Amino acid sequence: MATHRFDPNFTDNVVNAMGPQTNPRLRKLMASLIRHVHDFARENELTVDEWMAGVQLMNWAGQMSDDKRNEGQLVCDVLGLESLVDEITFKLADEAADAPTATAILGPFFRADTPYRKNGDNIVKGVKGGEMAFMHGQVVDFVTKKPLVGATVEVWQASTNGLYEQQDPDQEEFNLRGKFKTDDEGRYSFYCLRPTPYPVPDDGPAGKLLKLMDRHPFRPAHIHIIATYDGYKPLTTQIFDRNDPYLTNDSVFAVKDSLIVDFVPRKDDSQAGLELNYDVKLVAEGAK
Ligand code: BEZ
Ligand code: FE
Repeated sequence: MATHRFDPNFTDNVVNAMGPQTNPRLRKLMASLIRHVHDFARENELTVDEWMAGVQLMNWAGQMSDDKRNEGQLVCDVLGLESLVDEITFKLADEAADAPTATAILGPFFRADTPYRKNGDNIVKGVKGGEMAFMHGQVVDFVTKKPLVGATVEVWQASTNGLYEQQDPDQEEFNLRGKFKTDDEGRYSFYCLRPTPYPVPDDGPAGKLLKLMDRHPFRPAHIHIIATYDGYKPLTTQIFDRNDPYLTNDSVFAVKDSLIVDFVPRKDDSQAGLELNYDVKLVAEGAK
């Protein structure tokens, strides 16, 4: 029984218009999407102007997007959708002390073609200001704690001006990014910046939504990591600086307690005054 005053058959008619050739998963997703969107419109008695504002926002996001900017993803991010899908997908990586490394969202600034570098290399080129840190650790099997030799650890971070290299014509290509292979003890290492908070791009529809919702655009300081090893579930995550003021109000809702880390002072190293020891615990394929 419909609990509203509109045509009680309308939504069923739209759902049932899908033909028999529709892929079953797509049928399920589309039926659910149509029902939720129609309920949203009925519950709020959506006006034509409000609906058209939403259409224009989607169009604007599409027009702004190219291979350097993914505004559709960013709109999803400020609405918490990428973080929710991450939570749904990786429910097992919980916050317990002895858990595999938790996942976090990929975000729009990953680059598939990031080059390999040697352990101990410096990923920071021509950056003004900021604090240098030596980041190192071991990639291990979560259950056996055995080091994973030859695992890949890929990292990327924003510069001190708040921009990733592909957003900033003044940074050299692949600045503040690198892929590292773990050595025969499963260890990786590199010099990087202590990350600093930055605003997500707010000159487009995602920024407009944030302003309309009276929210700030800042993300807490973080370093992105992807760790992979044959036979293991690939890990996409981010680690967050414990001292950051935005930890409790990330504009894209990606912080998990187990991903908060401590940079500590480093002695006798002319390249870095700080150090971060961060081990990555991967889960074998097929493990629960
Ligand atoms: C990032 O972590 O780089 C990011 C994630 C979501 C939106 C914007 C940036
Ligand atoms: Fe980021």
